[in-house]
Amino acid sequence: VSQMLVLGIETTCDETAAAVVLRNQDGEGEILSNIVLSQIAEHAAYGGVVPEIAARAHAEMVDHVIERAMDEAGIRFDKLDAIAAAAGPGLIGGVIVGLTTGKALALALNRPLVAVNHLEAHALTPRLTDHVAFPYLLLLASGGHTQLVAVRGLGDYVRLGTTIDDAIGEAFDKTAKMLGLGYPGGPAVEAQAMSGDATRFAFPRPMQGRPEPNFSLSGLKTAVRLEAERHAPLAAKDVRDLCASFQAAVVDMVVDRTRVGLRRFRDAAGQPTALVVAGGVAANRAIRRGLQRLGSEVGLRLVMPPVALCTDNGAMIAWAGAERLAAGMTDGLDFSPRARWPLDPNAPG
Ligand code: KG4
Ligand code: ZN
Repeated sequence: VSQMLVLGIETTCDETAAAVVLRNQDGEGEILSNIVLSQIAEHAAYGGVVPEIAARAHAEMVDHVIERAMDEAGIRFDKLDAIAAAAGPGLIGGVIVGLTTGKALALALNRPLVAVNHLEAHALTPRLTDHVAFPYLLLLASGGHTQLVAVRGLGDYVRLGTTIDDAIGEAFDKTAKMLGLGYPGGPAVEAQAMSGDATRFAFPRPMQGRPEPNFSLSGLKTAVRLEAERHAPLAAKDVRDLCASFQAAVVDMVVDRTRVGLRRFRDAAGQPTALVVAGGVAANRAIRRGLQRLGSEVGLRLVMPPVALCTDNGAMIAWAGAERLAAGMTDGLDFSPRARWPLDPNAPG
């Protein structure tokens, strides 16, 4: 396989993103450009992503973002070897915008289209940033997803565990909203927690000790709400302590669940080469530290892509597209956008 240049387009949630990635003969990747246009300002007033607003913003900006990605990479469209577009899962209006744009480019340039699963792109990112070899254990934690996945090979994923209610990022977002910290909640809660007392509120550690590596966040969220109501009106210190105590409970749960996931991994896929954390929540430093401890405890390399590549971006789509292109896995222009698209077909939803 020779060197290849792939354009990636990401529009499944609230970032309009495009990037150009080069994959060399040795299967190593290089990011030539990575443009991410956040719609946070457009959604902030609503405390969350509004699908219709997101779709319109993607439609308005996607051409511009692609042009900037091509400009920054310094290459012409006719040098591209393939167009990769996220085809789901996600908010369907946005997915349609990005995938249709990708199809139009593929058709006009006479290049193959790769319809990328957004979750697979998160899952493969550590192969771009850290050359991680299969198989590895992935903790994918974002606003919409919380999964422990055995990544056995390209397109070969076994979901070991998931959340039975809210996603971890969603719990951060809801906690932030409850405490008046705005959207997105993760970074705001983390910033407050930094100077808070994590021992002040004894929040529950959901799922602790359970044999299945699943997560649960809604009980914890309720516990935070009850304490917040009990102490209303909240002083600045109360908010900091609530955030710190909440975050400490999440860290304990994540570490405990991941430890169980590692045990399950060995049954499904043998010895992992690494423990990988991806998704927006991987930006959280307390969670990173907790997993670092777990990694040293069990003698496993912990890989965390840089924060900018953990949150939604175009480079991860381009890279997943390049990996698939190299394996001859391209898609037809009739590929339908998918609101739902599980990584593991045996574990839908
Ligand atoms: O992967 P991502 O950019 O978008 C998807 O959901 O696909 O993840 C965004 C999520 C949001 O819920 C956000 O609050 C959370 O990741 N997040 C964080 C942090 N930064 C972002 N959660 C906790 N701590 C953070 N520092
Ligand atoms: Zn994502």
